[in-house]
Amino acid sequence: MNIENEKSLTAFNTFGIAAVAAKLVTITDINSAREALEFCNKTNLQSLILGGGSNILFTKNPESLILLNRLRGIEIVGKDGPDRVLVKAAAGETWHEFVQYCIRNNWGGLENLSLIPGMVGASPMQNIGAYGVEIKDVFHSLEALSLENGNLKTFNSKECNFGYRESVFKNTEKNKWLISSVTFSLSAQNHQLHLDYGAIRTELEKAGIAKPEIADVSNAVISIRKSKLPDPAEIGNAGSFFKNPVVEISVAETIKSKYPELVSYPVNEHEVKLAAGWLIEKAGWKGYREGDAGVHKNQALVLVNYGNAGGNEILNLSTRIINDISDKFGVVLEREVNII
Ligand code: FAD
Ligand code: EPU
Repeated sequence: MNIENEKSLTAFNTFGIAAVAAKLVTITDINSAREALEFCNKTNLQSLILGGGSNILFTKNPESLILLNRLRGIEIVGKDGPDRVLVKAAAGETWHEFVQYCIRNNWGGLENLSLIPGMVGASPMQNIGAYGVEIKDVFHSLEALSLENGNLKTFNSKECNFGYRESVFKNTEKNKWLISSVTFSLSAQNHQLHLDYGAIRTELEKAGIAKPEIADVSNAVISIRKSKLPDPAEIGNAGSFFKNPVVEISVAETIKSKYPELVSYPVNEHEVKLAAGWLIEKAGWKGYREGDAGVHKNQALVLVNYGNAGGNEILNLSTRIINDISDKFGVVLEREVNII
């Protein structure tokens, strides 16, 4: 086991925060993961799993042993009815490359989730979602290694308890598991396309595509995302910093009586989801900058690091935004990004 000491994490988090790991080990197989966990147990160290670092904000130098997940491999593990295949991907596969691999093999279901940064292993953590699809829609099961005893356990969808940007791994099972692989149930024929969300249809029309294939949907999503979201290679960010808040319909009605243009989406007969980006923009934060911490100029839900912001500067900015939105609209925003 090769433990690296005092390792810079700047290149390992998309915010580009210059945190330093006291100890870091790269995990390439289950045995090296077990060895690292034994080391933690012997030395009384906590462990922290890091994938692509695209949903994490370091506000201090982590003292835990960082397990940099680089488990690789993709395989078909079976069929799921006549039209579907079960595809298992190791947790350290890059998410977007895995999605593209599936599309090249004509396996449908993940195309709307194209270009989401990060790795396969983190995808169930917050049930990643975009453009009308969440992984719970095509999730079959996952395997995870107990951080306590190194045993492998299989979780089915019910056990993961997926919700909007939520799973059991962010709640009751937090910091207890290393997700080592995820198996998806994907269509091998008769693909069900999801074209109704956002500008997908407009994008396909622009490209002159009347009968889209899964690859066309992926390209449309990529094009929309590129026009909206900042590229972490150019400006540090972790995507949406906050969740879109789900509120009682009466709360939305009160805001609407003052701002009829409020953006909201139906959830159930009692609740609606509000566009947090709209609330933050309306409150005047869009494009705000303080030192190197800021709110993106085109997407107010995305906080950015213009260069040398510390994690605490970003965190403090997020707290000010939460307080301001609460004062102005009576809605409490919840952070989506994992704060370390
Ligand atoms: P990391 O940031 O490395 O880790 C995130 C959390 O999961 C941490 O708490 C970590 O400890 C834990 N973790 C990571 N891997 C494992 C594992 N194998 N086992 C156990 N715990 C683990 N998200 C969306 O849902 N939809 C979007 O549309 C979207 N767009 C984005 C756009 C941009 C530009 C960016 C920067 C981010 C976006 N995100 C989006 C957020 C992010 O890409 C996802 O949450 C992604 O799944 C994080 O993967 P990661 O490997 O980078 O996780
Ligand atoms: N809006 C504004 N001002 C802004 C930003 C957005 O008014 O500055 C309004 C838009 O006009 C639109 C609405 O808010 O009417 C929604 O905006 P958008 O379509 O850009 O999506 P979002 O709600 O901001 C969510 C996800 C994204 C995901 C997209 C597409 C959350 C927290 N975010 O963003 O996920 O890619 O929808 O499905 O649910 C992420 O999780 O990191 C992420 C990027």
